[in-house]
Amino acid sequence: MQKVTKAVIPAAGLGTRMLPISHAVPKEMLPIVDLPAVAYLVEEAAKSGITDILVITNRDKDAIEDFFDYSPEYEAALNAKGRGEDAAVLRRFADLANVTFLRQKEAKGLGHAVGRARAFVGDEPFVVLYGDDVIFSRTPVAKQLIDAYEKYERPVVGVKRVAPEQLQKYCSLKVSPIEGDTAAFYCDDMIEKPKPGEEFSNLSILGRVLLTPAVFDIIDALPPGAGGEIQLTDAMAKIARESGVTALEFEGDRYDLGSKVGFLTANVVAGASHPETGEEFRAFLKRFVAEMDK
Ligand code: UTP
Repeated sequence: MQKVTKAVIPAAGLGTRMLPISHAVPKEMLPIVDLPAVAYLVEEAAKSGITDILVITNRDKDAIEDFFDYSPEYEAALNAKGRGEDAAVLRRFADLANVTFLRQKEAKGLGHAVGRARAFVGDEPFVVLYGDDVIFSRTPVAKQLIDAYEKYERPVVGVKRVAPEQLQKYCSLKVSPIEGDTAAFYCDDMIEKPKPGEEFSNLSILGRVLLTPAVFDIIDALPPGAGGEIQLTDAMAKIARESGVTALEFEGDRYDLGSKVGFLTANVVAGASHPETGEEFRAFLKRFVAEMDK
């Protein structure tokens, strides 16, 4: 079985839920404490054995490319101030993986963005990490998906249980249990942004999928779906109906940096355990919550 060494990070969306900041700062560059969201994704992929990553961007997202480049002047200035450790951190992120970039040109949807990766992917399986979804987990989620792919030899979608009233914002999967496995399900259909009554289950795809190159011909033939966009879920639904996919209920907490509450929550959680900020920030939170309860 082919080893999974490639990943695609779609990061070319308009990010309208994060306006006004997102018209000037890519939402994938919004910080969690001191690191942009996309750095967490590249680190997760690298820790999962991924060596080559394609980030799908657009003309307003050059900051992402800059983050993964070397900064010789900055590094020299840090070294001159005796802050070699900070310079080494910048290098570490630049060298995490072989990160390349491609522009989507028009924001026609997540499926269309993934479709741009055909030449990069070639004939290999690949992981898709949705550019605004950061997941804190014990085992990197991309690795959890790769393990499920190697076990069941089918595309894998990372899923979580979603509150019924939230389902219309996500997708809903038709699943059946796999004997002897409590985390993985066999999925043979799914629907993007189901209207009330159209849901299959409360399992939704959140942030990570592992696909094979068969998806590209399907994407190319897709009509616009929900919201007038080329939806990745519609392509994966066709694969699920034809040959099935594995739905893996992954371990980890997911934060949607494309939403205001997701951005705030991720910063509170990470800030409270960060080695530099944790102690002071936890003390502040305790005082703040006590005041709120008065
Ligand atoms: P979202 O649906 O969260 O992104 O897509 P969006 O369209 O930017 O969101 P809003 O509703 O306007 O706030 C998930 C991921 O797919 C990327 C986004 O950048 C995000 O990381 N994406 C989405 C693309 O790369 N291209 C697209 O056309 C749409």
